[in-house]
Amino acid sequence: MGRLRKAPENFVSADLAQDIGKNGLNDARRGFLLRSFQTAGAALATGLAGNALAAGSGDEMILTPRPWSLSLGQPVAARPYGVPSRYEANLQRRESPGLTRVPAASVAFAPLQGLFGIITPNGLHFERHHQGWVDIDPSQHRFMINGLVAQPKVYTMDDLMRLPSVSRIHFIECGANTGPEWGNAAVPTVQYTHGMLSCCEFTGVPLSVLLDDCGADLKRGKYVLAEGADGSSMTRTISMEAALDDVIVAWGMNGEMLRPENGYPLRLVVPGVQGVSWVKWLRRIEVGDQPWNAKDETIHYVDLMPGGLHRQYTSIQECKSVITTPSGGQVLLDKGFCNISGLAWSGRGKVKQVDVSTDGGRNWRTARLETPVLTKSLTRFNIDWVWDGSPVILQSRAQDETGYVQPRAGQLRDVRGTRSIYHNNGIQSWRVAESGEVSNVHVE
Ligand code: MTE
Repeated sequence: MGRLRKAPENFVSADLAQDIGKNGLNDARRGFLLRSFQTAGAALATGLAGNALAAGSGDEMILTPRPWSLSLGQPVAARPYGVPSRYEANLQRRESPGLTRVPAASVAFAPLQGLFGIITPNGLHFERHHQGWVDIDPSQHRFMINGLVAQPKVYTMDDLMRLPSVSRIHFIECGANTGPEWGNAAVPTVQYTHGMLSCCEFTGVPLSVLLDDCGADLKRGKYVLAEGADGSSMTRTISMEAALDDVIVAWGMNGEMLRPENGYPLRLVVPGVQGVSWVKWLRRIEVGDQPWNAKDETIHYVDLMPGGLHRQYTSIQECKSVITTPSGGQVLLDKGFCNISGLAWSGRGKVKQVDVSTDGGRNWRTARLETPVLTKSLTRFNIDWVWDGSPVILQSRAQDETGYVQPRAGQLRDVRGTRSIYHNNGIQSWRVAESGEVSNVHVE
């Protein structure tokens, strides 16, 4: 096996440097190339195992029986609730130090560089709270529908969970994801540039079923307001069109109950729409005839345009992609074969195509989309690449089924200016230096 190399400490943030510390194996390591091949052809011809054995390396690790092959393992249910291996302990969601004044109103980013496929494990789902998270006793939780309805109703969790449910895989992305990149290449790793992003299978009752149950007035009722039970007074307006389409009042997340940090016991799932509308600890839906202009719709989550105007209710997360391996803070061990892997998504439907450039956007090749390719879900892409050891700039560019193509950072800035925070879906650039070190750079 190739030697693992550590990223220089002045190159990564303090907490990432810590990751790279003790075990040698760390959460950034999946982007370190564990093995490199002279050419992609050689890799494909022999396969990984064949290549290692054919070399006849005489490696003691494979020739000598190891202690775990000679002893009795742990009994079943030694851990009634399974946890990751201790060797994976550094794969964690992380807060960006100094991002907010108090940790209760902050963000913990998902470690995208260490995840495979499209599903985010529950313990690594990103977290964003305005007033901290709460762990509500489900027997004490109540959910109400009122406003323009024939019969206002209050539901218990038991009432809800006996209704017909659906399970759907969707991404959730905070509108502020990639916000720091409006100005310059502000943060070193994909965890911090794009980690306010996760994707799960959510289970719950369609909101349309509940609106029907209460006799919502669909002639006058053009909007719904969703309200959370935490101390943040989180309220968001959602169009009736979306509410009747694919919005879910959800209790399940990847086959188990929601985690408290993610809204246990009840949250709204609003596919394709920015995370703030996915109200957690959901306690009320009100039907109304106009938008509410709540605080989180007027002061926050609005786009400051170049002319000084604020754009409100731009809630759909437009088509976007990012290469997660290799990505900022990682090191390529050697020249040779390298699988470039990443994620693409669109709030308007399915991802149709992802192109990858290894020369800063001059030439593009189309990547493989791994199945499943689902609507308003993350899609995993992969593409073979042979690194010749010279400095390169890696980029990915996604296109969705509506034909919309992810813009270059410069194209986005021409329309939106530089004073935005939210809704940055520009193309991300990673520079691979001759040393193999990967860093975040800006390419217009
Ligand atoms: N709902 C309530 N009640 N309180 C909150 O602070 N944060 C919102 C949204 N729903 C929030 C909330 C924001 S800004 C985002 S991006 C998502 O929840 C984050 O969801 P997550 O913490 O499950 O990742």
